[in-house]
Amino acid sequence: MSTLKDKVAVITGGNAGIGLATAKEFVAQGAQVIITGRNQQTIDEAVGMLGNNTVGIQADVSRIKDIENLVAKVESQFGKVDVLLVNAGVSHQEPIGQLSEEIFDTLSDINFKGAVFTTEKFIPILNEGASIIHVTSVSAYTYATGTSIYSASKAALTAYSKSAAVELAGRKIRVNTVAPSMTETDMIYRGELGTEEVHNFLKDKFMPFKRFAKPEEIAKLIGFLASDDASFISGAEYTIDSGASVNAVRL
Ligand SMILES: NC(=O)c1ccc[n+]([C@@H]2O[C@H](COP(=O)([O-])OP(=O)(O)OC[C@H]3O[C@@H](n4cnc5c(N)ncnc54)[C@H](OP(=O)(O)O)[C@@H]3O)[C@@H](O)[C@H]2O)c1
Repeated sequence: MSTLKDKVAVITGGNAGIGLATAKEFVAQGAQVIITGRNQQTIDEAVGMLGNNTVGIQADVSRIKDIENLVAKVESQFGKVDVLLVNAGVSHQEPIGQLSEEIFDTLSDINFKGAVFTTEKFIPILNEGASIIHVTSVSAYTYATGTSIYSASKAALTAYSKSAAVELAGRKIRVNTVAPSMTETDMIYRGELGTEEVHNFLKDKFMPFKRFAKPEEIAKLIGFLASDDASFISGAEYTIDSGASVNAVRL
């Protein structure tokens, strides 16, 4: 299906995980895709794998100057943008009472401030009818040990995203959030979201389908929201968790 044919799509954090899976989905749907990240090597590898219709631009979303340079490069090469996937993010667990200022700043700078200013800086070059998708997390409204600052950063982004949906409606720009539960990417295997023992426990006792999401499953939802098939959907928050967040007690 070529539902994104001739659309220009930017994906922050497109060199790994959910962002890379979505880049594949967007390319398959016919889009011109621009992926970003901090790591030039994995950006180059991703572009090599994705093939034609993909370019990579290094940009750290925690640096406003990098975001401005990214926007300038995208504008000079492609003009206007139709789809903006604000996906770059990091996670880290620390218990309440032992929170460090360093982790607070890192998570806030990347997951909240970085996501907000990525959106802000791209707004001037978005086409009328563009789609913005913010990748948040079920952690924005479900709470687990050690995730307070991560949860707060995603809840803050959700609030910004919904405000943007209201304020950008005049330009027919749609703004939505996608909130996945645990997804099989490097993020969870780097140990940012619990140990293997915790993962096995969660799959067995908490996940209704006894497994985590595949990044391609998140990408399919994002692909739909990016397309004109979602033309009346804005200000929405899409939980994608196989029902885990409504699963209070599982016997
Ligand atoms: N995996 C999960 O269980 C899960 C669940 C819910 C929500 N999420 C959210 O999904 C999004 C993608 O995560 P993922 O699971 O795909 O993790 P991942 O595989 O670790 O990918 C994270 C991506 O973000 C990029 N990134 C991180 N910091 C950046 C920065 N300062 N500037 C630019 N790019 C940056 C990384 O690129 P570089 O390494 O090159 O910087 C990478 O491409 C995140 O927002 C995450 O919070 C993930």
